[in-house]
Amino acid sequence: MEIMVIWRKEMFDGMTEQEARKKILNQVAEYCNKYHQQKGKYSRGDKILYASRIYDSCEMTNLVDSALDFWLTSGKYTKEFENKMAEFLDVRYCALVNSGSSANLLAFMALTSPLLKERRIQRGDEVITVAAGFPTTVSPIMQYGAVPVFVDITIPQYNIDVTRLKDALSEKTKAVMVAHTLGNPFDLTQVKMFCEQHELWLIEDNCDALGSRYKWNGEWRYTGTIGDIGTSSFYPPHHMTMGEGGAVYTNDPLLYKCIRSLRDWGRDCECMSGQDNRCRHRFDRQYGELPFGYDHKYVYSHFGYNLKATDMQAAIGCAQLDKICSFVEKRRHNFKILYQNLQDMQEKLILPEACENSEPSWFGFLLTCRENTDRNALVQFLENKGIQTRMLFAGNIIKHPCFDNIRNNNIYYKVSGSLKNTNRIMKDSFWIGVYPGMTKDMIDYMVESIKTALA
Ligand SMILES: Cc1ncc(COP(=O)(O)O)c(C=O)c1O
Repeated sequence: MEIMVIWRKEMFDGMTEQEARKKILNQVAEYCNKYHQQKGKYSRGDKILYASRIYDSCEMTNLVDSALDFWLTSGKYTKEFENKMAEFLDVRYCALVNSGSSANLLAFMALTSPLLKERRIQRGDEVITVAAGFPTTVSPIMQYGAVPVFVDITIPQYNIDVTRLKDALSEKTKAVMVAHTLGNPFDLTQVKMFCEQHELWLIEDNCDALGSRYKWNGEWRYTGTIGDIGTSSFYPPHHMTMGEGGAVYTNDPLLYKCIRSLRDWGRDCECMSGQDNRCRHRFDRQYGELPFGYDHKYVYSHFGYNLKATDMQAAIGCAQLDKICSFVEKRRHNFKILYQNLQDMQEKLILPEACENSEPSWFGFLLTCRENTDRNALVQFLENKGIQTRMLFAGNIIKHPCFDNIRNNNIYYKVSGSLKNTNRIMKDSFWIGVYPGMTKDMIDYMVESIKTALA
C-alpha cells in the first residue's frame, strides 16, 4: 500500500490534471502499439475470420480518455459522434443507440408515433419486407403487432425483388422496411418511387452497408439516407465498431423528434444527459392533463425505451469514423480480388452481383451453389480448413422456431407470391469475409480452398 502511494506520487507529481491525462494516454498508446498491433504473421491454415475489428491506438486512447472523464452515459463523445456521423452521411440528424437491433426497433417505432397523425403505423397495418436476412429487421414489426408482408429476393443481388412490390401492396400497407443485403444496395430507385406513389414510409436497414453509395437522381448518396430513416450497427464484425452500438439517421425533423423521444424513455424534453432547461420552458408549459408548469424533464410524449449507448462506446466510434473510408476501400478491394479469382468457378457457384447504379461497401462475399454443388459439404470443407463461413443470417426467417406457433396463420404475417429464391439461399448460399484485415495470402488461400473442394 505504501509503495503504491509513493509510486502514484512520483507518477503525477507536480502535474496538472491535463498533463497527467496526457501521460496516461501516451502510455495507453504505447501499450496498444506494443501488445495489440504486433500481431503474428498469417500462416496457411491459421483461422481466417469472416470479419474482425480493425483499430489502433486512437480507439484505445479515446476509450481511456472517456473512462477518465467517467461521465459514463451519453455525453461529449456522443455529441461528437452524432455530428460526425451525420456529416459523413450528409444527413441532418443522427442518434446514437446501443445496437443495430435497437436502431431498427427505434426506426420502426418512430413510425408508430401519434405525432405522425394519419400516416402513423397502427397495429394490423402492413409492412413490406423480405424473409431472407437478419431477424431484427423484422422483429420490431412483429413485436408491435403490425404485419410483415414477405416478398422474394433476387439472386445474385440478394435484395428485395422490386417486380413483386405491387402484388404485395394492400390498403393496409404503410411502409417498406428492408436491408441492403451484405452491403449491396437494393434498387432504391424502384423502391423509393413505389413508396412515394403509395405514400409509404421507407426504412433502410443499413446495418451491413455503411459506406455503400447509390446514384439517386443523378447524385451519389450514401445508402441509409434516401429513405425516411436509415439504421447502422457497430457490432464488431461490421464496417466499423464500438463493441455494441448502432445509429438511426434521418433528414426529417419530426421523425428525429420521435426517435429521440423513444430512445430516451419516451420523454418530451430534448436535453442531453445531465443538461437542464435546454428549451427554456422547463416550468412554464402545460402538457397532457398534467398541472400547468409540471417539470418538462419528466413529461412523456411516447411509451419509450432507454436505448442510449455510453460515451465510451461513442469515443471508440469517433476514432473508427475517421477510418471508415479506408475500411470501405479495402472491403471493395478484397471483394474484387475474390471475384476475379473465382470467375472460373461459375459453373459451380453463382457469384454476387452489385445492384445497378451502386457502389457497394461489401460486408461479405456471398456465394450460391449451383445444382451440382453441395453447399453443406463445401462449407464443412472450408471450416475444416480454418476458413470461417456464414449463412445469409436467417435464410428464410419464416422457417425458424420463432414462427412455430404462428406459421401458416394469415393474421401475424403474410407471404406475397412464392419465396422460391429465399428458400434457395437458405439451402444453397453462404458467405465468406472481405473485412479490411484480410491479406492477399488469406484471400489466395480461401480461393485455393474453394477450388480444391470443388475440383
Ligand atoms: C441487416 C442487419 N440488421 C440488423 C442487425 C442487428 O445489429 P446488432 O447486432 O448491432 O443488433 C444486423 C446484425 O448483424 C444485420 O445484419
